[in-house]
Amino acid sequence: MNICCIGAGYVGGPTMAMIAAQCPDIRVTVVDMDGARIKAWNSDQLPIYEPGLHEVVMAARGRNLFFSTDIDRGIREASIIFVSVNTPTKTYGIGAGSASDLTNVELCARRIAEVANGDKIVVEKSTLPVRTAESLKRVLQANANGYTFDILSNPEFLAEGTAVADLERPDRVLIGGDNTLSGQRAIQALVKVYARWVPRERILTTNLWSSELSKLVSNALLAQRISSVNALSALCEATGADVDEVTFAAGRDTRIGSKFLKASVGFGGSCFQKDILNLVYLCRHYGLDEVADYWERVVTINTWQKTRFVRRMIDTMFNTISGKRIAILGFAFKKDTNDTRESAAIDVCRALLNEKAHLAIYDPRVTSPSIFSELAHATGLSQSDVEKRVVCEVDPYRAAEGAHALAVLTEWDEFKNLDFERIYRSMKKPAFAFDGRNILPHARMQAIGFDVQAIGKSLPIAAAVATESLEKVSV
Ligand code: UDX
Ligand code: UDX
Repeated sequence: MNICCIGAGYVGGPTMAMIAAQCPDIRVTVVDMDGARIKAWNSDQLPIYEPGLHEVVMAARGRNLFFSTDIDRGIREASIIFVSVNTPTKTYGIGAGSASDLTNVELCARRIAEVANGDKIVVEKSTLPVRTAESLKRVLQANANGYTFDILSNPEFLAEGTAVADLERPDRVLIGGDNTLSGQRAIQALVKVYARWVPRERILTTNLWSSELSKLVSNALLAQRISSVNALSALCEATGADVDEVTFAAGRDTRIGSKFLKASVGFGGSCFQKDILNLVYLCRHYGLDEVADYWERVVTINTWQKTRFVRRMIDTMFNTISGKRIAILGFAFKKDTNDTRESAAIDVCRALLNEKAHLAIYDPRVTSPSIFSELAHATGLSQSDVEKRVVCEVDPYRAAEGAHALAVLTEWDEFKNLDFERIYRSMKKPAFAFDGRNILPHARMQAIGFDVQAIGKSLPIAAAVATESLEKVSV
């Protein structure tokens, strides 16, 4: 059997590598129009960082896993074609700002129909608005040249940073298809691939629309949990409750569960906001304005949380950060990935730059060109203007040197055990630490002399800081 995947991104690359690693007799080809990306997949420097991914790719690459820019050949040789191209939020026309831009997906369907030389199973891997399969089907059938195309929806639930583990032991694999003989046969063909390593009871089959909607709903429910906790983090700060204690207590109820209740500076990533806005657009389309308004608030709270974090920084730092150096620890949208898409760090840094701060940024995996380009895009400044106000440092100690404050924006494990005495000595006093992920050792840092501000906590100011603030405020 031959499988092809169009789109060698964060989803297509790891997913196909896992299929190839688990099924040595299936030839898997990942194609992409981006030549540089394919070159990277064929090199030792893979284009994305994921723990364990290198090993999985190396085990199968050249054996039954191939990366290529020859999209047409990939389509012709495969009986199952995954479509895993990006579907960004539309920036123009009807639905701008909320609907998904399906241009890439439709182009793929047209290309498949044009070059196909036999029957194909086309699998939607990209997250798509509900009923996209219908449009795909029409495009494919209108250009079918006598061949049969079965459409399946097989949404990906992997989370970045844990992609390999999620693919190896998924909570579930979801496959949606038509309730026709040929649709059911197509479902079974794909079930057989996953059943090589996923227990059968974890492979769920549904109709197309349930599968498409399940992906949006899963992401919306996950994001909603974070926004709920983040909304409550403000109440914790106001009342003296500690958000970590509150979520721990609530999460002990097995009906609520303890996962995904971590208060933060805000969620990011390529999926949550896009998928919720997609859901909102869908609800409005069907005249369900109350439902749309309800889900839209999840995004509103997320935006508010980022703004609130920056306001707290400014308030704490005597209402001005103009000209002050601030060390930013973490730029990726979460730990263990080099992905910066929709990262909370982008919005926080933009707001700090608007207040004329100088930033010294350190992230263990995000490269400085990505940081500069994200910030240039976010601020509208030229890259060289960004570089006048932002430096990327090679370690957290360099970033903190001479800084008035440090802000943790990504929960990288290495930030938990830094030499905070050393950092404190090198900073301006009072030395502020804003923990946007609640991972720092707050009590230890307070004992050293830091003024620590954390999400959902109103930590008492350490005695040393209180005296310093009064006596020698160095600017
Ligand atoms: C993307 C979407 O963000 C996600 O919603 C969806 O579920 C899967 O696709 P991701 O893999 O993270 O996820 O996107 P990205 O890393 O941008 O990769 C998409 C790839 O498709 C890019 O490498 C791009 O070059 C390629 N592509 C895009 C094509 O090969 N052809 C196209 O027509 C468009
Ligand atoms: C998400 C879904 O988890 C995954 O199933 C889907 O396939 C794609 O979208 P991803 O965006 O890669 O995955 O990462 P995830 O772990 O869900 O984190 C998303 C954001 O929420 C990150 O910015 C993370 O830091 C934040 N987050 C997560 C919190 O702020 N608190 C939490 O408790 C959990």
